[in-house]
Order: sequence, then structure tokens, then C-alpha cells
Amino acid sequence: MAVNERFETLIQERVLEPSGFVSATFSGVRRHQTLQWQKITLRPVMLKGAWHLQIIYFDGRHDIRENVTQEAAEKALQDLLAMPFSHYFVRTTEDELHIRITKKGKALIKKQRTSTSLPNMNHDRRKHLPLPDHVHDPYLQASGIMNAQGQVLANKRSKFVQINKFLQLVEEMAELKRFEHTPLHILDCGCGSAYLTFAVHHYLNHKLQIPTVTVGVDISEKLLQRHQAIVEQMGWDNIHFEIGTIIEYEPTFQPDIVLALHACDTATDEALAKAIWSKSQLIFSVPCCHHHLQEQLENSVVISPFEPVLRHNILRERMGDILTDSFRAAILRILGYKTQVIEFVSSEHTARNLMIRAVYDGNVADKNHIREYIALKSMWNVTPYLETLLGDSFSALIE
Ligand SMILES: C[S@@+](CC[C@H](N)C(=O)[O-])C[C@H]1O[C@@H](n2cnc3c(N)ncnc32)[C@H](O)[C@@H]1O
Repeated sequence: MAVNERFETLIQERVLEPSGFVSATFSGVRRHQTLQWQKITLRPVMLKGAWHLQIIYFDGRHDIRENVTQEAAEKALQDLLAMPFSHYFVRTTEDELHIRITKKGKALIKKQRTSTSLPNMNHDRRKHLPLPDHVHDPYLQASGIMNAQGQVLANKRSKFVQINKFLQLVEEMAELKRFEHTPLHILDCGCGSAYLTFAVHHYLNHKLQIPTVTVGVDISEKLLQRHQAIVEQMGWDNIHFEIGTIIEYEPTFQPDIVLALHACDTATDEALAKAIWSKSQLIFSVPCCHHHLQEQLENSVVISPFEPVLRHNILRERMGDILTDSFRAAILRILGYKTQVIEFVSSEHTARNLMIRAVYDGNVADKNHIREYIALKSMWNVTPYLETLLGDSFSALIE
């Protein structure tokens, strides 16, 4: 345990960070002090599409709830931290913070790294699904997910779940408001059947009322006719589709948000490279298969303590998946993106259920991030495809 690190700052940094805060509890009372509350619990909630801090005061018999806006949360938290609690527990997506104030008034601080996904921030999950079931939605009907009565078709249930989860993961970060301009520009790489492309476009424009222009790119030409039919049916003139590879696509605008959902193998790397080059502020990528690094692992002659893992095909494949996405996240961190790797949907809906979610924060070439990346690379003696794509500018940065 560390002693006397300024504990209030550690709590504030975590609670006031919407993209990572999960929950907090303040309890107990310091020696010779009194407190009106037995316990205070904090959690994030989304109300009318905006992040709020919910404060639950417990006096031993009743809960009293208060929801404060993000703007008012700093002051509210300051007031709570001025109360003489003796125990503090804060959970974020990346760590857990335990603080105990000793009898002599010292703060004993313990941090533990963990990996938790953000909680469901809605009071009533069904009512607050971004595009809910049992509520007729013209786009969901046009795309064949829902019927005219607002019921989701049985064979489209997984798609419906994926779309809603994706929209929740976009919205819960409360990062859409970082943009001061409209329209926002979205680039969906490897858009395929474009369920997601249309859904995100629809949700931002028509539910969140954020004017948005969207482009979907895919090498497959055969779906274009179907996309065009939906565009015409919906009367949307601010979404279109381009045929070609992600890497060769030259956007006519700078994308604010880059999406890549289940873009095959190295197409995910192409999407990440495109996002990095075009300085996209937000990236949401759900990788698919990971063959490129798998091949390097198969051909690797490095004798490592992981030999018992690499010997078995299925374990080697899973190790390759994990390493590929770890390298991708590490590269994004080096290039100034605050990056999370989180669960997308539960594995009953798809085995490819991990999301890399990144927000540009400008902290480029952090020495620790570079050191971690080089160490991981040299241990496995591999070169991630994303590094190859990024070329000399990235190599110069990590030298
Ligand atoms: C598994 S599908 C996913 C489609 C869509 N994003 C979704 O989640 O429903 C992958 C798509 O990526 C496209 N694709 C693969 N490699 C690509 C590349 N290098 N450039 C553009 N599209 C690519 C394929 O044609 C396919 O439509």
C-alpha cells in the first residue's frame, strides 16, 4: 500500500472519466467524526442520451437518489470528498482503487489492475435500447430486421442485439459531444451488408439529432444495389457507399469517427491505419479473424516459455488473436489514442466479440507505451501488420 498519495485526486480522476468509470462506494466514518450517511454509492447513468453521475445516499434505512450532469459532477464530488468517510472504493474499466483512512488520518491507497466493461447505464434496459424492440422503426423495417408491428424477426435477433450494443458502446462514452462542428463524418470500413452503417447513421441523425454524413466502403460490389434500395426507400441523401479496398479509399472528408465491424483479418488493420492517417477522433473496431500474426507464430522458431501453448493449434490461434489485438491497442496508445479493449456482445451472439475503442487524446509517443510495445514484439519475434502498414513514420517514432 502506498501512503499519503493525494487520494482525492485519484478518486476524482476516475469518477469524472465517463469512458472508464464503473462505480464507487464511500463508507465508514473517520475517528472522532460524525456523518449523516452510512454509505454513498456512485454510478454512471445515461439520461436523455447524456452521461450523468448518480449519487445514492444511504442513511441506514432509505436510499435517496440524485442525478447530476457531467458539468455539475465535479462540484458534487468535491462536496462528497469533504465528508469524513473512512473507506473509499472506486472501480473503473481498468483498475480498482481501495483507500482506507487510518486512525491517524493517513490515506492508505491500494490500486489493482482489472478489466471490467462499463455497466448498463440505463434504468430500464428495454425502454432505453437505442433502437428498441416493440417500437416500430422505419429503418429497422426497411432493413428486414423488424416487421411493421415493431417485432424483431427471429432470424435477425443477433443482428438486432449487435446493432443496439454497438450503439450503446458508442453513446456511453459520452465522447460525441467532443465535436464542436456538424455534420459529423463517419467512415465504416468493410461495411458489408451495412446493417451497422445504416443503424449508426440513423441513430445519430434521427434519434440523437446530430447531423451526420456517412460513407461505407467495401470490396464487395454485389450488396450495393440493396444498399441503394434502402437509401431510396428512406429518402436519405447523406449516406453513400464506395466499392474498393479500405486502404485505397481516399475519403473526400476527414472522418471524425471510423468504424470497422468484423472487417476480415488485415482489413481491420487497414481501417485502423486509415483512421490514424486521417486523424479520426474516435475509433470503434470489432476485429474478426487474425490470420496474419497466426502465420508468423506458426513459422516462429523462437523457443519460449510459451512453447506448451504454441504446440496446440487452438491455443496458438487464440494466443495469436490476443496478441494481434494487444499490438493494435498498443500502437493506438503510442499514436495518442486512449484505448480500451472491451467485450462487444456476449459470445452467444458472436465469437468475435471484442471491441477496440479508442479516443484521440494527443498523448503521442509516451515512453512507457513504446517500451511495452517493443518488449512484446521482441518477446514474440513478430511484426504486426498494422506496424507494417504505418511504415517509416511509425518506425521512427518507436526507435
Ligand atoms: C464479415 S463482413 C462484415 C460486414 C459488416 N461490417 C458487418 O459487421 O455486418 C466483412 C466485410 O469486409 C469486407 N472486406 C474484407 N476485406 C476488405 C478490404 N481490404 N477492403 C474493403 N472491404 C473489405 C468484405 O467484403 C465483407 O463485406
